[in-house]
Amino acid sequence: MKDSALCRFGVSMDKKLLTEFDQLVINKGYSNRSEAVRDLIREALILEDWKDPEQYVAGSILLFYDHGQKGLLEQLTAIQHHYHHEILATTHFHLDEHNCLELIIVKGKAGSLQTLSDQLVSMKGVKYGKFTVAPVSDLK
Ligand code: NI
Repeated sequence: MKDSALCRFGVSMDKKLLTEFDQLVINKGYSNRSEAVRDLIREALILEDWKDPEQYVAGSILLFYDHGQKGLLEQLTAIQHHYHHEILATTHFHLDEHNCLELIIVKGKAGSLQTLSDQLVSMKGVKYGKFTVAPVSDLK
C-alpha cells in the first residue's frame, strides 16, 4: 500500500468522551471527526519529535510582559543577542501603556531552542510565554 493511501481504523471510547470530542470538532470548525483526529495525531507526533534535542525545528516564542519591570528589557535583549544564530526575527507590539507582546521566530536544534524559551519565559515580569514548533522533519 502506498504511504499516501487512506487507511481506516476503529476507535472505542466512552460516550462522554466522544460527546466532548464532537463538541471540539464543531468548535474548531472541522468538517468531520477524521480531520480532527488527523490534526491531533500530527500534533502528538511533533511533540514526540521535540524529545530529541538534536532535531532541527522552526517555530516561535511568544512573550507577554510588562516593559516597566526593572532590568527586563536589557535581559531579554542580552539573551536574544546570545542566541542570534537561532533567531530569525523578533517583532515587538506595544499593547497599551505597560504591556508588550513579543514574537520571536526561531530555527535550530530543539534542545537549544527549548533552553532559550525557558530562559525568556521564566524571567521576572514575563506574565505569559509559549514556545511552539512547526512540523519540519527535513530541516537542516
Ligand atoms: Ni512595548
